[in-house]
Amino acid sequence: MKIAVIGSINRDYTAQVKKLPEKGETVIASNYNISLGGKGANQAVAAKRLGADVYMIGAVGNFDNGEDIVKKLKEEGIDISGILYTDEVTGNAMITIDESGFNTIVVYPGANSKLDSFWIERHSKIIEEADFVILQLEIPLETVETAVKLSKKYNVKVILNPAPACQLPDDLYRYIDIITPNEVELAHLTGTTDVKKGAMKLVEKGVKKVIVTLGEKGSYYTDGYEEIFSEAISVNSIDSTAAGDSFNAALAVALGEDMDIKSTLRFANIVGALTTTKIGAQDSLPYREEVEKLRIKLGE
Ligand code: RIB
Repeated sequence: MKIAVIGSINRDYTAQVKKLPEKGETVIASNYNISLGGKGANQAVAAKRLGADVYMIGAVGNFDNGEDIVKKLKEEGIDISGILYTDEVTGNAMITIDESGFNTIVVYPGANSKLDSFWIERHSKIIEEADFVILQLEIPLETVETAVKLSKKYNVKVILNPAPACQLPDDLYRYIDIITPNEVELAHLTGTTDVKKGAMKLVEKGVKKVIVTLGEKGSYYTDGYEEIFSEAISVNSIDSTAAGDSFNAALAVALGEDMDIKSTLRFANIVGALTTTKIGAQDSLPYREEVEKLRIKLGE
């Protein structure tokens, strides 16, 4: 199964603190590390580790060793022919994690902001040959729109992870097969904090399937007719970074393997949960064997 991921590539600067700082407060970190991240790159690495053939379309900086990151993606086995090298700095993310594993993230997009529609059209072959295209919102919205519409032209399934939250043009929704907001993003998109009502609003706008990630509570699915609530998997969580990313990758992989929707949600919950058991973004993304081990343990 082929998955094309179109999105951000970042360097993550992560500080671990006891408690997230208040406005105007300075706190001392107990640990600090630099690792590879970006919602796009995380989703690409996660999908690859779960067993898919992955093609990444994204952008890095020319002058700050962006090629080192691309080399790492290549070493993962990801096709990197869709990577754009730019004069901007590679995107970076300042991440703070508290004692219970919750985080705040500030992203400077840098090179990600140079990923334009022209580049997407130039790499349309990657989209055309994919079974799924996965996108997020850390690249320009116009680029996302082009990629989504191109995917539909080729009849390729589109998963949009609307993170970070921003308003989407109304005419985009009908091109999206699956949208995967968390509760905050859902409220931003729909103006309601009621998960069921919010999800229904997205269905009414034209999205075929809505999957809301609920963190410790699991995930909620609706296509407007059927509703499924899938419970979270209990693990020893220490860092939630990239859990949403691996969840999205797992959805595409499971659906590509023809799992039914209940098993797909369960599979994605397991992958997301495992991601929270290690520190960092790409460092914490599980391999298929780990996932299968846990699935067996859980009696799946
Ligand atoms: O979803 C986690 C990711 O968000 C981090 O890796 C960071 O780079 C930001 O893009």
